[in-house]
Amino acid sequence: MTHILLTGSNGLLGQKIVNKLVERPDVQLTATSRGANRHPILNGYTYHSLDLLDQEAVAHALESFAPDVVIHTAAMTQVDACEDEKETCDAINVGVVEQLAELSAQREFHLVHISTDFIFDGAAGPYSEEAETNPLNYYGHSKLKAENAILESGASAAILRTILLYGITPAMSRSNIVLWVKKSLEAQKPIRVVHDQERSPTLVEDLADASIEAAVRKAKGIYHISGPEAMRVVDIAYRVAEFWKLDKSLISEIDSASLGQKAKRPPITGFIIDKARRELDYKPKKLEEGLAVLDSQLKALSI
Ligand SMILES: NC(=O)c1ccc[n+]([C@@H]2O[C@H](COP(=O)([O-])OP(=O)(O)OC[C@H]3O[C@@H](n4cnc5c(N)ncnc54)[C@H](OP(=O)(O)O)[C@@H]3O)[C@@H](O)[C@H]2O)c1
Repeated sequence: MTHILLTGSNGLLGQKIVNKLVERPDVQLTATSRGANRHPILNGYTYHSLDLLDQEAVAHALESFAPDVVIHTAAMTQVDACEDEKETCDAINVGVVEQLAELSAQREFHLVHISTDFIFDGAAGPYSEEAETNPLNYYGHSKLKAENAILESGASAAILRTILLYGITPAMSRSNIVLWVKKSLEAQKPIRVVHDQERSPTLVEDLADASIEAAVRKAKGIYHISGPEAMRVVDIAYRVAEFWKLDKSLISEIDSASLGQKAKRPPITGFIIDKARRELDYKPKKLEEGLAVLDSQLKALSI
């Protein structure tokens, strides 16, 4: 039996990990997140509210629950907000990870940490795990600092980098590209989407599977976890429109500069995912396969 403590269980990835772990007889799950539990499933695991910025509470939780593995999904994930609120971004994305890495080395639990393609500058995607990092924005800097803190701590750890997650859960704290495009086009609302950025959109269930594999196998090192196809962001929007038979003419192509976002985005990312396929039995879904998963979930939720 592996005892897993999960952080950020109210988040998009966190909720999917809960869904999967409650089905596993070989895993005991302690789920944690800030505030009350927003997950619709309430049985098969225990939930504890844990503000990760409270260092004493974190140390106490790790001591009293004594997990074999911590899957750390919680983060400040709003890229533009990180630019405006650097101290909060540092505290959540770096300080918390430094503490978890230190506790992991002391208490000998395995750490699975989630990172991002934004640690790269996007000049030369798709990237391998060994490629040189060079973040363009504060969020990327914070996530890279966290990776380095883990690597330098001597903790037993896996770092799973991912790209542009999409999926749906009840009570989501923020949207994602697929839901935004679908909802906007359904409401006949014109949208502007960038044509000069390339990504490999990742179905959140695929990342949840990889996180669980990395946890139960106690995999070590860096893994690239993304969807199997790289495409322009505007092509994601077109493919979403085609899948749900929505009006593509509402989509206009623009360049990143005209979008005027606070944080600079890397132009072309995308990952080489061979290592994850080999070592984590990673089998990611293509975009239309992922949209089909989402479609059946939306129907079940009657949204
Ligand atoms: N989403 C993407 O496209 C993407 C791309 C690359 C990498 N990633 C990485 O993937 C991971 C999961 O992302 P996600 O999209 O699932 O994120 P998310 O939906 O924004 O969830 C993050 C969770 O962290 C929780 N959290 C934030 N601060 C906390 C604190 N002080 N104490 C306890 N919990 C706290 C949030 O709680 P509240 O709900 O209460 O705010 C939220 O539930 C993150 O590490 C992110 O950096 C995401």
